[in-house]
Formats: sequence, structure tokens, C-alpha cells
Amino acid sequence: MGQNKKAAVFMMESSGKLLRMVAPLTESGHAPLGEENAEIHYLGQFIPLHYHHNMLMNEHRMSAFKAAIDYAVFEGARVLELGGGTGVLSCLAASKASKVWCVEFNLELVVESRRLLALNRDGHKVEVIHADAFEYLPPEPVDVVICEMIHTAMLREKQVEVIEAFKQRYRQQFGEQQPALIPEAVIMAVQPVQQVYDFFGFHAPIIQFQQPQVIQAGTTELAAPMVYSILDLSQPTARKIQWEGTFMLEADGMVNALRFITKNILAVVPEQASTIDWLIDYLVLPLNIPVKARAGDKLKVAFCYHAGGSLRSLEKNMSATLVVAAI
Ligand SMILES: C[S@@+](CC[C@H](N)C(=O)[O-])C[C@H]1O[C@@H](n2cnc3c(N)ncnc32)[C@H](O)[C@@H]1O
Repeated sequence: MGQNKKAAVFMMESSGKLLRMVAPLTESGHAPLGEENAEIHYLGQFIPLHYHHNMLMNEHRMSAFKAAIDYAVFEGARVLELGGGTGVLSCLAASKASKVWCVEFNLELVVESRRLLALNRDGHKVEVIHADAFEYLPPEPVDVVICEMIHTAMLREKQVEVIEAFKQRYRQQFGEQQPALIPEAVIMAVQPVQQVYDFFGFHAPIIQFQQPQVIQAGTTELAAPMVYSILDLSQPTARKIQWEGTFMLEADGMVNALRFITKNILAVVPEQASTIDWLIDYLVLPLNIPVKARAGDKLKVAFCYHAGGSLRSLEKNMSATLVVAAI
């Protein structure tokens, strides 16, 4: 069965809302791949099972979530996880929680998470529910909500929309007292860079991701990153992100890409005046029109996108222009 057909079957088993998101299949059995339609087949909405192994193996992600869950989930707490995947975060929460509701709409993952949870000591406290996180409400109030539908720059995955919709539904059903959220907030920054796009002699300015912990030999930082957005997820959060700022360049180079940096504040720990953070992989997007610049030049950077939007939607709506050349 082709990818699109499989996706359509998943969708049919899911809620009406998701059903509405699917374009009808063509005679060949393939859904027409418009941007919106293409996005729901990609990572985020349909993360294939084998990719979950990478998430389990990501030590930075896992250790940060474990620390935040250990901090926020108290003995006997009631926990909801939206987008449970393999059930790993729900299972970590279940070490102290009395009950965890774990919502997942990918049927393959629903089945797999039930199998995996049964292999773990606290798995019996986790109830896996095959439902859409945009619509599900737990049967009773919860103390903590975990949601890891996070992509760099809050693109692609639906964290912002899912949490926003959840807060509204929850308030209507259970009143003003909101549960703690993991993550609590997101800090996003942007940086002009010169990026090597030569691949064995093949020139390819192309989207790429970089591990923050690894020195990137092909990237020259032309200025320090600037924060362009701080989202406090406990507050009403708009999807539209629009920014314009001016960098004073610190090195000579060809500004041919923007690097997007996203730090997730999984928990704020006031007792230690600190936070538990997860720095997700950087996103480097090539600029349509590169700018040759020198140290001391002022560079205006502007972009606009929607949280949950495609990578392309940001790539198409960003620019860098020289405003003042160094003397
Ligand atoms: C990035 S993965 C995280 C999985 C798991 N929480 C973890 O940390 O390993 C996001 C998960 O959310 C699920 N998901 C995406 N949209 C969803 C929705 N609307 N309702 C329920 N689950 C959803 C995906 O199928 C995927 O398993």
C-alpha cells in the first residue's frame, strides 16, 4: 500500500477533524500533494515508527524531558500526554503519577506503545487512547500536561495549535485552574551565517539541520544570534510570527543562509533560579538572494511564518539586505 493510501486509512480511523484535513484520493490512489496535504504526510503528523528510535536515542532530548518530568510530576499526580508516540514520556511520568492518559492518533504507534508499556514496571498506569490531540479531553482534571510535538522554529509540528486548542477546551470543561505544561515556553533566535553548500563539487543550497553540540565546519557565524520570539505556552499564543531586526556583522563573508535556533524551556525551577532546557537541532535555511558583507556592516533580516507551517513557508518569506555598509 502506498504512503498516501496508508495515511488516508489512518486518517479515516481518526476523528472527523483529521478526516477533513485529507484531500480526496485521485484515481491512481494518490492524494494530490498540495503544500498543506503534503505536510500532514511528513514528520510531525506521521512520524514513522523507525524514526521514534532516533527520538529515544537522542540523549539531550531524553535527559531534559526526564528531568522536567521528575521535577513537575509529583507523587499521585494525574498526567495527560498529547502525542504519546512510543509512550516513553508517559511511562517516565508514571513512575510518580497515579494515572496517565496518553493520546496518540497514529494507529501504528497506539498498538506499539501499548506493547512497550506492558514491558515496563509503571506501564499499567498509562492508558493509551487512540484520539486526536486537537479534540481529546481527559475524563477528569489533570495536574500536568506533556506535549512533545516540537520542531525547530515551531514549524511543521502542531505544538502551538494543539496547546492553544487544549487550553480553551480544558477551561470550558474544568474551569480556570490550568495544569502545568511541559514544555512551559520556547525561546527562538536567528543568526546570519555563511554556509558551505558544496557537496563533492555539487552546488546545492538546501535546507539542513545541525546538531547544536557538534562544531559545524561548514558554517561561519557572521553575527551573534538575536532572539526573535518568546512563547509562553501558558498564555494565549498567536500562530503568526513576524520579525525584522538589524545585525551588526562581526566578520566578512557571504550571508547566504539564516540559522534558526530553538530552545525549549521544559520546566522553570524557581528554587534553583534555573530552567530545564532542550536545545533542538538548528535549522539552516538558504537565502534566495545572498548578500556579500563585511565586518561592521548593518544587515536587516526579515521573515514571517506561522507556527505549524511548512519549512518552505519560512524559506519563501525571509530576506537579508544591507542597510549600512562599514566605512
Ligand atoms: C515528536 S513525536 C513525540 C512522541 C513521544 N511523545 C516522545 O516524546 O517520544 C509526536 C507524536 O505526536 C503524534 N501526533 C501528532 N499529531 C497528533 C494529534 N493531532 N493527535 C494525537 N497525536 C498526534 C505523532 O503521531 C507522534 O507520535
